[in-house]
Amino acid sequence: MRVVVLVSGAGSNLQALLDAVRSDPDFGVEVVGVIADHSDAGGLQRAEAAGVDTLVVRWGDHASREDFTGAIVAGAKALGADALILAGFMRVLSREAVSTFPILNIHPALSPAFPGANAVEEALAYGVKTTGVTVHFVDEFVDHGPIIAQEAVDVEPDDTPQSLHERIRKVEHRLYPEVIRAFAKGRLRVDGRVVYWRADD
Ligand code: GRF
Repeated sequence: MRVVVLVSGAGSNLQALLDAVRSDPDFGVEVVGVIADHSDAGGLQRAEAAGVDTLVVRWGDHASREDFTGAIVAGAKALGADALILAGFMRVLSREAVSTFPILNIHPALSPAFPGANAVEEALAYGVKTTGVTVHFVDEFVDHGPIIAQEAVDVEPDDTPQSLHERIRKVEHRLYPEVIRAFAKGRLRVDGRVVYWRADD
């Protein structure tokens, strides 16, 4: 399966996927491109270091969400994508993307709690004792589509948003490649909101 990864930030989840693909000849995924919504996303450098094609589609260059999404879809098609992997991509795509590609996203909270861009800070401020990681299929709503996998991360009494996010990222870097591998091998079946896993061959 040929995937294009969309990033806005540091790209540590992109790196975890690139490392997992490289270290497992049976992974079944080729990262054929990385698209960022601005040119100083750290993920672009990681892609270049790995010899992966990159593309910048600037939010500000587009008149509407639909135009921006159209440019992302065209770019991903040109790169040869079968699927899109959102890895810290901070823009919401319109319906065209969801109807063109299967799309996966990773969210640093236990959905449906704390959707949106500040999930780690909001979970900490709310006082939850456990938060975590959610990997889900993307639908038209934010952090909402069918849940593929979740893993809990306990909140420590002295946590800051940074320390908590660091432990969440450790889980993400293991869980996301595992889910993407299963997806590429056709092991995930979606029935309404429920995702069923088929055992590995
Ligand atoms: C991750 O915590 C992910 O869950 C969230 O954004 C963060 C991206 O981190 N959507 P990175 O850019 O992969 O390091």
